[in-house]
Amino acid sequence: MRIALYGFMGAGKSSLGQKLAQKTGYDFIDLDTGIENYTGQSINDIFALQGEIAFRQIEHNVLKNTVKQNKDNVILALGGGSIIHPANRKLLEMKNFYKIYINVDISVLIERLKKDKNKRPLLKDLKEDEFEDYIRALFESRRNIYEKFADLNFKVGLESFETTLGRLHSYLSFN
Ligand code: S3P
Repeated sequence: MRIALYGFMGAGKSSLGQKLAQKTGYDFIDLDTGIENYTGQSINDIFALQGEIAFRQIEHNVLKNTVKQNKDNVILALGGGSIIHPANRKLLEMKNFYKIYINVDISVLIERLKKDKNKRPLLKDLKEDEFEDYIRALFESRRNIYEKFADLNFKVGLESFETTLGRLHSYLSFN
């Protein structure tokens, strides 16, 4: 099986993907890490030096190169904006990825993102009084696509990381 984890920034896609891969013996690929390896630059630097449009093109190229390898038994964690672009959704569908939306409540995301906004180019320069509105608006603009594209809309409540991981693991093993 090929699994793609996607969802908003701060949803825990990379941590869940990594741990799930350890539990299942699947390979783990993190798209943002792939982009950093490919360019030799951090995501922050790519945005700062080349801008978001260039980043989206690089993101598409790296996703294409990744899925072209036709690896099986793989878990791919995607950046929060990647599936907004139709060409990226098409790639995942063509390669039969099982697409899981890591659906975390917006108020939880906001609290998490406040704590590590510096890692995220879209957020790091926001002022305190515009932070929450920006995140809510970006989330709303993506929500429909996030929900429609999902094979599994995996809702994460107020539970520990271990509980979430366990639920996701059993869901995948027994369905
Ligand atoms: C982005 C999410 C980030 C990263 C980039 C853009 C987005 O990944 O790809 O900063 O547009 O939501 P994470 O979702 O892993 O933070």
